[in-house]
Amino acid sequence: MENNNITQNNKTYWDANADLWFGTTALPAYGVKFVTEDDLHLFGDVSGKKMLEICCGSGHSLKYHADRNAAELWGVDLSHKQIENAKAYLKENGYTAKFICAPMESDLDIPTNYFDYVYSIYGIGWTTDLQGTFNKIASYLKKDGIFIFSWHHTLNYCVAWSCDQRKDILEQNQLIFNRSYFDEAYFTMPVDDSEIILCNRKISTYINALARTGFAIEQMIEETDKKTMESVEDDSDKAKMARMLPISVCFKARKL
Ligand SMILES: C[S@@+](CC[C@H](N)C(=O)[O-])C[C@H]1O[C@@H](n2cnc3c(N)ncnc32)[C@H](O)[C@@H]1O
Repeated sequence: MENNNITQNNKTYWDANADLWFGTTALPAYGVKFVTEDDLHLFGDVSGKKMLEICCGSGHSLKYHADRNAAELWGVDLSHKQIENAKAYLKENGYTAKFICAPMESDLDIPTNYFDYVYSIYGIGWTTDLQGTFNKIASYLKKDGIFIFSWHHTLNYCVAWSCDQRKDILEQNQLIFNRSYFDEAYFTMPVDDSEIILCNRKISTYINALARTGFAIEQMIEETDKKTMESVEDDSDKAKMARMLPISVCFKARKL
């Protein structure tokens, strides 16, 4: 499928379903059942800093930084509805930001060598051009600027619970590999009476693209939160899986 068609399909999904996701994937959270910014302190002190969020969604992470006295807030998202929600949410809270409604892959009217931080919470994996997107992000950052992003951990797309119902079978309640870790092909996933198109990139694909861009990786985090790890009550499939492998992954990189 053409990259433009993938992006257009995903835009249609987000325009129709933005309200369902209002504030659900935003700082201090980096992902589901995952350590948070309160545990990690990847940003540190952002007061007086220039921040750009890629795939800013409903604007909750921008507000998080505004509450911490960031000097300038910029957000990019391909969905008009998400941008509308983000604008309204920031306004309600007495803040403003510059918004650009466009795909992250395109040439955008964003200053170069300008930002202290570029970040994205569950946004980067939507790109149809990972290397091109990283190159653009690096161009927006000042030298020594920081790029932080989180996304699904590829492993959790490759496994499923063994569904053999026989009581005597040892494998019951175990995770089995049902998809190849190496498969980076695009696939269509039905969600909310609609569908999205994504691919699962290997962790090495992200690392190598960061390195080729000229980023130094400072941290890569694959850590389920303490509450989920220690919980004896939470017996949901998601919690059980999160105790065995990371559901999300998070990178902090510096522009050299
Ligand atoms: C899981 S949401 C994360 C949103 C954000 N973290 C928040 O707090 O709402 C993913 C976002 O990526 C946006 N998106 C998807 N593909 C995109 C693309 N190619 N370029 C820019 N934004 C994109 C969607 O519109 C959506 O707002």
